[in-house]
Amino acid sequence: MDKKLSLRTMGLSQFTTILSALLFLRQVAGVTQPTNPNIIIILIDDMGFNDVSFHGSNQILTPNIDAFAYNGVILNRYYVPNLCTPSRAALLTGKYPIHNGMQHFVQIPDEPWGLPLGERLMPQFFRDAGYSTQLVGKWHLGFWRQDHTPIMRGFDHHFGYYNGYIDYYDHTHYMLDRNYTAGADFRRDLQRCHSDNGTYATEAFTKEARRIIEQHDLSRPLFMVLSHLAVHTGNENQPMQAPYEEVAKFVHISDPKRRTYAGMVSSLDKSVGQTIRALSDRGMLNNSIVLLYSDNGAPTLGIHSNSGSNHPFRGQKESPWEGGIRSAGAIWSPLLQKSSYVSDQVIHAIDWLPTLASAAGVALPDHLNIDGVNMWPTLTENLEPQPRTLLHVLDDVFGYSSYMRDNLKYVNGSRFEGRFDSWLGELDAGEIDPLSTFYVQQVLSSEVQQVLGSNSLTSEHIKQLRAHASHHCSINGTIHLQPVYLCHPLQAPCYFNLTNDPCEHYNLANLYPLQVQQLEKEVNEFRLKAVESARVPIPDLRANPALHENYWEWWNDTETETVTSGAEKWGSNLLNLIWRYCASYFDFAYK
Ligand SMILES: *[C@@H]1O[C@H](CO)[C@@H](O)[C@H](O)[C@H]1NC(C)=O
Ligand SMILES: *[C@@H]1O[C@H](CO)[C@@H](O)[C@H](O)[C@H]1NC(C)=O
Ligand SMILES: *[C@@H]1O[C@H](CO)[C@@H](O)[C@H](O)[C@H]1NC(C)=O
Ligand SMILES: *[C@@H]1O[C@H](CO)[C@@H](O)[C@H](O)[C@H]1NC(C)=O
Ligand SMILES: *[C@@H]1O[C@H](CO)[C@@H](O)[C@H](O)[C@H]1NC(C)=O
Ligand SMILES: *[C@@H]1O[C@H](CO)[C@@H](O)[C@H](O)[C@H]1NC(C)=O
Ligand SMILES: *[C@@H]1O[C@H](CO)[C@@H](O)[C@H](O)[C@H]1NC(C)=O
Repeated sequence: MDKKLSLRTMGLSQFTTILSALLFLRQVAGVTQPTNPNIIIILIDDMGFNDVSFHGSNQILTPNIDAFAYNGVILNRYYVPNLCTPSRAALLTGKYPIHNGMQHFVQIPDEPWGLPLGERLMPQFFRDAGYSTQLVGKWHLGFWRQDHTPIMRGFDHHFGYYNGYIDYYDHTHYMLDRNYTAGADFRRDLQRCHSDNGTYATEAFTKEARRIIEQHDLSRPLFMVLSHLAVHTGNENQPMQAPYEEVAKFVHISDPKRRTYAGMVSSLDKSVGQTIRALSDRGMLNNSIVLLYSDNGAPTLGIHSNSGSNHPFRGQKESPWEGGIRSAGAIWSPLLQKSSYVSDQVIHAIDWLPTLASAAGVALPDHLNIDGVNMWPTLTENLEPQPRTLLHVLDDVFGYSSYMRDNLKYVNGSRFEGRFDSWLGELDAGEIDPLSTFYVQQVLSSEVQQVLGSNSLTSEHIKQLRAHASHHCSINGTIHLQPVYLCHPLQAPCYFNLTNDPCEHYNLANLYPLQVQQLEKEVNEFRLKAVESARVPIPDLRANPALHENYWEWWNDTETETVTSGAEKWGSNLLNLIWRYCASYFDFAYK
């Protein structure tokens, strides 16, 4: 007997009895059990490790973010994939990009692909456990078909955009090297939305996050990803955008680009204060876990560069170096037994699915085959850091890899012909914020500190935490090293011991050839188990916003995914190869 039939044959009275019994059970559960904790993930785009002041910089002060970090746990060795699309996929699936097909580049607006539909995502698990699931801001995991969009993938609601970036004010996405019209890229769920046109994106998203919190049904837990545009660049015609009054705070920064960037960071810092305040005002904060981090390192130079700084780490976004993959991050929750400390545990974006699920009491299905591990016990009890093995990058199309076992690091190949392989974004020691003289007072008087109101956080403790989280490398990377230590990853693999060389100055490959071979073998083992890249690097002209009333919109929503035949696969491999050659000529970069 099928379900429809049984409902039809069931008497109305029986049906209402069952229904009211279910409603009663739900009410009882709501009254007698505390709901699972709210999960709030504040995801920042392209912010440098050195662009929050809790890592020691006095150039751009971030008192709210710092107060958040000092009251919680500073994730001092937090790793992420080096690009937007793979990083977001890793967060939502708990898998390495080579295990969900997202290892090669980012989703370009007119390419017909996205995070494979076979993947089950974090919001789906939380929704199944009774959470209200909300995405505010950026998606960037595909939208060519409606079934790839966020509300088809576990989010009850989405307010924001699909592409890698938009204009901060008019919320359009202009595609750099195609002859398309600019398209609006802003939606509420599936509906085109222009109500906030003209509002600075950071403010529009913060306003929406506050609305969600204020109107949240308190009988259910909330799962919200607040995925900011900040501090990514806007469109190419006007990449750097920040409210005038925010930029005006940074007269001590002489480079106008960096000054505007500081305004973008400052606006974001304000948003963190307002979001934490909203959670507190609604009485939700005391049962919340709030995670904040940047999806990847800052692009200091090159296309989409925002002048962010990952100094003293080497390289930048979309590079194999620590500057691309070490993210500024912190986690705060009253559920953490130990807090106000700096964690030196190596943690990766793939760990959040099992970690947050465990902390929230959300059961994950067996045999999920995720790569991440549950870090909650380590974080909550501040356990002794354990060594980890992490595959940072394995992109055989662009031809580069980055891998770490314990603290031993292997780098083979690079991007952009190695142009961004050095130590970038060093800040001028003379350009410091005059208010930094009163740094501790700035933190203590921030909105976040007022809300969290922890009296135990003393000036002395703040200074200690800040010193622990500040990074200096013993030598200046741009000075001459002995030739034996130089690394040319486009010619031969490099090998570093991060224990005493976190800035990747000393390539030890010539001294330890056997270790290099061993690491290479381990990378090859990962390679053997990698799934094929899901990227379809073929522009589909039907994406042109001109064909969708000047909106970015799915352009194939009728058919379902078909299994590709051998011949088609061969064809697409050939196109892949052609693309590879083209891509090495143009630095296409929509991230
Ligand atoms: C670009 O688009 C415009 C308007 O659709 C068209 O007139 C022009 O020929 C196109 N240029 C190229 C290079 O395709
Ligand atoms: C906002 O307004 C501008 C100017 O009218 C328009 O070009 C743009 O498409 C609008 N954006 C959205 C998201 O509607
Ligand atoms: C959190 O705070 C609210 C409002 O102050 C209170 O009703 C609730 O019992 C508190 N919950 C917990 C878990 O402390
Ligand atoms: C190192 O990079 C080169 C050039 O891309 C490639 O031919 C080689 O297979 C790579 N080695 C490993 C172990 O990945
Ligand atoms: C590092 O070396 C470069 C090039 O010689 C120089 O411009 C820079 O000021 C040096 N930085 C420090 C901290 O010594
Ligand atoms: C890495 O450096 C640390 C600190 O100097 C040292 O104890 C360790 O033995 C080194 N590891 C290898 C494999 O050389
Ligand atoms: C939609 O995409 C499928 C591949 O998933 C393709 O076979 C089909 O032709 C497309 N349909 C349209 C209308 O573009």
